[in-house]
Amino acid sequence: MFHAKITKIERLTEKVSTLHFDVSLRSYPGQFVMLNVPGYEEIPLSLSSPSSVTVKAVGKTTERLVNAQEGMYVGLRGAFGSAFTPSKRALIVAGGIGIAPLRYLYDFLKKCGAKVSVIFGERTAKNLFWIDKFDKIIITTDDGTLGVKGTVIDALKLENLDEFEKIYVCGSENMLRATYAFLKERDALGKAEFSLERFMRCGIGVCGSCVIENGLRVCADGPVFKASELPW
Ligand SMILES: Cc1cc2nc3c(=O)[nH]c(=O)nc-3n(C[C@H](O)[C@H](O)[C@H](O)COP(=O)(O)OP(=O)(O)OC[C@H]3O[C@@H](n4cnc5c(N)ncnc54)[C@H](O)[C@@H]3O)c2cc1C
Ligand code: FES
Repeated sequence: MFHAKITKIERLTEKVSTLHFDVSLRSYPGQFVMLNVPGYEEIPLSLSSPSSVTVKAVGKTTERLVNAQEGMYVGLRGAFGSAFTPSKRALIVAGGIGIAPLRYLYDFLKKCGAKVSVIFGERTAKNLFWIDKFDKIIITTDDGTLGVKGTVIDALKLENLDEFEKIYVCGSENMLRATYAFLKERDALGKAEFSLERFMRCGIGVCGSCVIENGLRVCADGPVFKASELPW
């Protein structure tokens, strides 16, 4: 573990902040760090750039981070896990805070000259952030306060999936499973990659706490999986 200083905090919504560190990690989009806040749990967080994480407050540790102060130190281990496979024509499908690793991927692919389209779904407009950071974006909200009323699946129905070389998906388990089922129906699963979340302890493939139904470990075999690796 090494220590990193939080140099800048960007408050994105009532519950979400990006924390920038004074170190840049050798990493690829999709990888995560184990972050230790003194006096709290050590938790897994995806990198939203080589030197930042973007956190949503859901419990004690994430709340502490969202309300952290610049100058505070945290412990970091990583970067760990598998990364997304780059492509030249990409579709990003994000649900909620699932946009965090996909922002890193978007910036990475754009730098490599790729054409990237984004579908970003949230419950309601006030939870959305970064929507001005993407050139080509379809927004969906469950309550219709912005963009298409409905879920990311309603936006996916508007796309010609043959156009894309890869489809990258990150969000809640329900969102991932619904997207998997839709892409299967459209015969597009072969080009999809899914980023999963599980409760983690060691983060390096030893303790077994993040194992999915088919025995693969989210920390070491994932968190990014090809559709063929998932037991759905
Ligand atoms: C590989 C990976 C990458 C992640 N990347 C991000 C990220 O970029 N940004 C971000 O905000 N969060 C991310 N998470 C989720 C984050 O780790 C959890 O929100 C965090 O551990 C919750 O800790 P807590 O102490 O604040 O909440 P707790 O008190 O531990 O839990 C609060 C609530 O969140 C639920 N919860 C806890 N851990 C998880 C989890 N792993 N998946 C789903 N629900 C959970 C609990 O069941 C409970 O309902 C990631 C998780 C993994 C496994
Ligand atoms: S967190 Fe320990 S094996 Fe994955």
